[in-house]
Amino acid sequence: MENPDDKKKFVKSKFAAISPRYDLLNSVLSFQIDRYWRWLTTRELRQFPAGPVLDLCAGTLPLALELARQAPARLVLAIDFCEDMLRAGVRAAGNDRRLARILPVGGDGERIPVRDNSVWGVTVAFGVRNLARTQQGLNEMQRVLKPGGKLLILEFSRPRQPLVRALYNFYLNKILPRIAGAVSGDQEAYEYLASSIAAFYEPEELAGMMREAGFSTVDYRPLTFGIVTIYVGVK
Ligand SMILES: C[S@@+](CC[C@H](N)C(=O)[O-])C[C@H]1O[C@@H](n2cnc3c(N)ncnc32)[C@H](O)[C@@H]1O
Repeated sequence: MENPDDKKKFVKSKFAAISPRYDLLNSVLSFQIDRYWRWLTTRELRQFPAGPVLDLCAGTLPLALELARQAPARLVLAIDFCEDMLRAGVRAAGNDRRLARILPVGGDGERIPVRDNSVWGVTVAFGVRNLARTQQGLNEMQRVLKPGGKLLILEFSRPRQPLVRALYNFYLNKILPRIAGAVSGDQEAYEYLASSIAAFYEPEELAGMMREAGFSTVDYRPLTFGIVTIYVGVK
């Protein structure tokens, strides 16, 4: 999609449409490995157990809940521009006591409604790929972090090993949209998932954009055959 504003509208409406089924599909389609990825990402913030953190593109709050679980005094600001996703997450969490430390707020990752230098950590799980203006979003993440704070991005990438790549592409393009379409009623949303993964930056490109945003140290490492990559940026 060429026009960033068209992409924004499309992304927002697709997430609103699948919001009631998002969590279920996530665990089924990833064979629950997503829990391990989120656990590992969150652990990167263990040196900031009490400081406020921002979970951007928070969706149905899976990472926000893990952030609150790993540090019992931590406050989490959970921002997403699709309020239906946030609402679905709050509803699913029921009377989970961690919700008392999570503040869900509707807001745009390209203009984060948070003051400069105010959080110790920013996390974005499977959200950066959905931003219509990636560099602008990264600049904003850098702006709201305190000096010394960390940005953690968990994002899909493309496996490099040819056999794994072929199997993964078959799963992503042929199997996943059909299962997800039948369960969520919106096959197009999951075709978008496959095409957005195919069109996304290479890890070294995204790392370069993080440096461009002003992060002084940038590191990244592939997980699970390179199906996802964790990026760590320090301000
Ligand atoms: C794939 S979901 C990820 C949700 C959650 N972080 C997780 O780990 O499952 C991507 C989320 O990014 C949100 N999103 C996309 N573009 C956004 C933007 N510009 N500002 C805020 N949220 C955005 C979508 O509404 C959606 O909830």
